[in-house]
Amino acid sequence: MNNIGKAIKISDKVYWVGAVDWTVRDFHGYQTSRGTTYNAYLIMADKITLVDTVKAPFKDELLSRISSVVNPSEIDYIISNHSEMDHSGCLPEMIEIIKPEKVFASAMGQKALESHFRIGSKITPVKTGDSVSLGNMNISFIETKMLHWPDSMVSYLKEEQILFSQDGFGMHLAVDRIFDDENSWDIIEEETEKYFANILMPYSNLILKLLASLKEMNLPIKLVAPDHGPIWRSNFGKIAGLYGKWSEHRPVPRAIVVYDTMWNSTALMAKAVGEGLRETGIEFKILPMGQSHRSDVATEVLRSSAMIVGSPTLNNNIFPTMADVLTYIKGLRPANMIGASFGSYGWSGESVGLLNDFLKSMEIEVVGEGVKAKYVPTEADLKACFEQGKLVGEKLKAKIGK
Ligand code: FEO
Repeated sequence: MNNIGKAIKISDKVYWVGAVDWTVRDFHGYQTSRGTTYNAYLIMADKITLVDTVKAPFKDELLSRISSVVNPSEIDYIISNHSEMDHSGCLPEMIEIIKPEKVFASAMGQKALESHFRIGSKITPVKTGDSVSLGNMNISFIETKMLHWPDSMVSYLKEEQILFSQDGFGMHLAVDRIFDDENSWDIIEEETEKYFANILMPYSNLILKLLASLKEMNLPIKLVAPDHGPIWRSNFGKIAGLYGKWSEHRPVPRAIVVYDTMWNSTALMAKAVGEGLRETGIEFKILPMGQSHRSDVATEVLRSSAMIVGSPTLNNNIFPTMADVLTYIKGLRPANMIGASFGSYGWSGESVGLLNDFLKSMEIEVVGEGVKAKYVPTEADLKACFEQGKLVGEKLKAKIGK
């Protein structure tokens, strides 16, 4: 066994034995500019237990870190909190190597692991409220269906007061220091927000329910140990508060203008829309899709209550970058937003109508009919864009009650 990493002790009997991925820059469409970690945890109880595994290519790093504490063959139990392959990719091989007495997952996890790896028969299903004795410790389970997969669950180790929260409260951030308070808060907050926007936003209502039930259960929690990024030792309360705020989608005085352009006409229109927003005092940000990534737009959507979109007409359609970002954002189901559209055209001019249809399909309340400009916007066109920005700004203020 090559030594390519040691375990990090995170509490009396628990070790972090995961892998750090400094290279990954794309996570199915989400730009992971700062890499990520695939966290796994080793509980050195009477029944030695591994919580989650790692992405398949990182199996040797996982084994190396486990081996710095115990021979992997001595592990008795494996818990699979989430069957997405960044956490289960090497589970079949780990089962072969370890030959554990039991592998626990939710009933949906059992089905998912069967479909992925044909290992369903090796899984012991557990459900919310079930507790498994590890001899001198106890671990219990709470299913968190659709946060963010049907199989998802979290595990709670009573004696060490650790909540293993799988993707929940995680972030894509490669770190050399494993605790939240050993890293820059600004980066942690930024990456947590980006992760929430890009992974969890569609499930905001379920998050509110989970936060409420965690509060009701009133579990003493010393550490929240997610499957990506640092472990929460000091700032979980702060981040749980932000999860609550982000999930509520209350209207805020902030808008984004998302556009792409062919010959700068739609870009000029975007600036005029921005000036209209400025006039109302609404904070705004302009995101040109030639220079912006869809996953950063998702974060800006989470921060905003209005989205004004612009595209030239290209071959009777909208620009491909706009189709990309709107398809992506639609899947994330932003809530409680208003919107509007604009765009230049040469002869047919379908883009504005198509953008409006897109916004409506996202259940975004469309303000006005949209502004079109033939080839290059005239003064009157730019004035119309300005007025459109102003109208959205006023509408938003009225919605907030300002
Ligand atoms: Fe990190 Fe849903 O997997």
